[in-house]
Amino acid sequence: MEPHICVIPAAGLGTRFLPATKAMPKELIPVLDRPVIQWAVEEAVAAGAGEIVLVLAEGRNELAEHLRPNPSLERILIERGKHQELEAVRRAGSLARITVARQREPRGLGDAVLCAAAAVGDQPFLCMLPDDLSIADPPVLEQLRDAHRELGTPVLALMRVPNDQISRYGCADVVETRGRLHRIRGLVEKPPAGEAKSDLAVMGRYVLTPDIFAALRQTTPGALGEIQLTDGLSALLAKGDVWGVEFEGDLLDVGTPAGWLATSIRLARNDPRFREAVSGALAMAAA
Ligand code: G1P
Repeated sequence: MEPHICVIPAAGLGTRFLPATKAMPKELIPVLDRPVIQWAVEEAVAAGAGEIVLVLAEGRNELAEHLRPNPSLERILIERGKHQELEAVRRAGSLARITVARQREPRGLGDAVLCAAAAVGDQPFLCMLPDDLSIADPPVLEQLRDAHRELGTPVLALMRVPNDQISRYGCADVVETRGRLHRIRGLVEKPPAGEAKSDLAVMGRYVLTPDIFAALRQTTPGALGEIQLTDGLSALLAKGDVWGVEFEGDLLDVGTPAGWLATSIRLARNDPRFREAVSGALAMAAA
């Protein structure tokens, strides 16, 4: 069965981007002309998702509001003849069906995914962390969807990272390689430097099967005292195959000020609407 739901955990405190995220979710920070959450949903839709399950903290509704229609704003834009703006607003509000699941406390990524269990039900689903934007053709989530179509198992995005960075990520130990596909035999969340079994980091894109929910219910707090998705996936390895895709293209960080700035400049230089402005600013800064 093709996954048609994408779970997007977005209940974090955004501590890596304070103070910008003091009163606003980090997924609303704009990159060029649209917020991070919209980039994420556009990638999910390209990978076949018709429904997005947003996992949000109690009382936070801004992300769902961005992705749903806003009739009063549309009315004003119609009255004022702002056709382009109207199109942009309508598009953001109609990319996919939006469902909200709540995470009551920040207990980790695994817990956030488990909060989506009732909304997802008994079917494979896509999952993505909106901290990175995909600059890839096809987009990274679509590459994973294609691998899942071929393999039928859970599939994770993998990227090789320098040795001194692997402790920031989940790390995959692999047993079999077919081109860019790796069959995984072990997964460790944030291994201490020197103990990592490989340089293959798990990146925030997944195709998951519904047995992950039972595994996560059994998962106890791990790295950082949190319920880790990596530990839930690790439990699945005892029962069946899990594959990773060393994807083609880039995932660019927008979850920190420095990453956001670098990503924004890179995207702006490739976009005819912004190229001139950003090149001019960079030339002035270099002068
Ligand atoms: C999460 C995952 C980790 C993954 C990382 C990718 O960690 O738990 O396995 O490698 O995203 O960005 P976080 O960055 O939330 O600490």
